[in-house]
Amino acid sequence: MRVAITGSTGRLGRALMAAFGDAPFTGPSGPVGWDRAAFDLDDAARTADALLDRDRPEVVVHAAAWTDVDGCARDGELARRRNGDATGALARACAKRGVDLIVISTNEVFDGTRRDGRGYAPDDPAGPANAYGASKLEGECQATAAYDAADATGRLAIVRTAWLFGPGAPDFPHKIVRAGEKALRAGSSLWAVGDEWGTPTYTHDLAEALVWLVGEDAVVAPGERVAIHHIVGGGLASRADWARDVLGRVGLDVTVDEVPGSTWSRASTPPAWAVLAPTPLPGREPLRPWPEAMADYALSLRRSRTASNSTTRA
Ligand SMILES: NC(=O)c1ccc[n+]([C@@H]2O[C@H](COP(=O)([O-])OP(=O)(O)OC[C@H]3O[C@@H](n4cnc5c(N)ncnc54)[C@H](OP(=O)(O)O)[C@@H]3O)[C@@H](O)[C@H]2O)c1
Repeated sequence: MRVAITGSTGRLGRALMAAFGDAPFTGPSGPVGWDRAAFDLDDAARTADALLDRDRPEVVVHAAAWTDVDGCARDGELARRRNGDATGALARACAKRGVDLIVISTNEVFDGTRRDGRGYAPDDPAGPANAYGASKLEGECQATAAYDAADATGRLAIVRTAWLFGPGAPDFPHKIVRAGEKALRAGSSLWAVGDEWGTPTYTHDLAEALVWLVGEDAVVAPGERVAIHHIVGGGLASRADWARDVLGRVGLDVTVDEVPGSTWSRASTPPAWAVLAPTPLPGREPLRPWPEAMADYALSLRRSRTASNSTTRA
């Protein structure tokens, strides 16, 4: 099966390239990676058709996005074009050719004000609190319209996820290691947000789940054209909980002081309750609890700590 992945050099894109590369159904050549040079979100309407005709994938996983949430808040119109219109252009090109599309989306399509302790379900009303969430919701809506069109073929899966961690540019765990080392040197405590809750999700685990959905032909239920999945790590955590977990794993003995998110002024407002209720993965267990995934990731964190220690000594 021919699979193409947009944003193939990003955090999730790298994990997808590895997971689909290992999947027997993608054959010896593995998936096709469409990086920024191949599929520029600023030029999607022009390039989507040409790329699909050139590589003729049967499934496209759309992981590319403008993920700078504060940048999106400063230029909401650009965010809408990159995360909304570009997704729409890709979806229309795929639907016209009967290509299945998986659009990666986010918990930030919800406003995060929920107070009943439950995670957001796919049919809960969306209502983004920031420009990034609004632009991603626009992408979901344009993709759905493309596959709802009378002449559309193929199927659409919207996969919402949250709080991704994994190899790539510094993620939350790596930033906490850096901040923890700094606090240790200064003999101070570390401030971490105690009133933001989410579901940390390991890119490796999410990528494996997507391979499963594609391999089992379960991206969309039989007879349906469009599906929404919530795929996140098991359990939940505050940012402060997650920071304590990270510090413990790399042996940094630093006290975490919980502070409100409003401590730092930001262009974007993150949702306080970033918790998604996971949807069932047909024939497969849900993703493992996030601390188990962190245990696997800890080696990478410890290596980064060792590397920074040797840089400091040099
Ligand atoms: N990170 C999270 O916590 C999180 C949570 C929920 C959902 N998501 C969603 O998950 C997906 C993957 O996110 P990620 O964490 O892997 O983000 P990432 O590491 O920032 O990767 C984003 C990818 O998009 C590409 N990209 C950015 N701007 C582009 C442009 N103008 N044209 C073409 N490509 C462009 C990047 O290319 P370069 O490599 O060249 O920069 C990169 O490959 C996104 O759809 C995001 O909205 C992320």
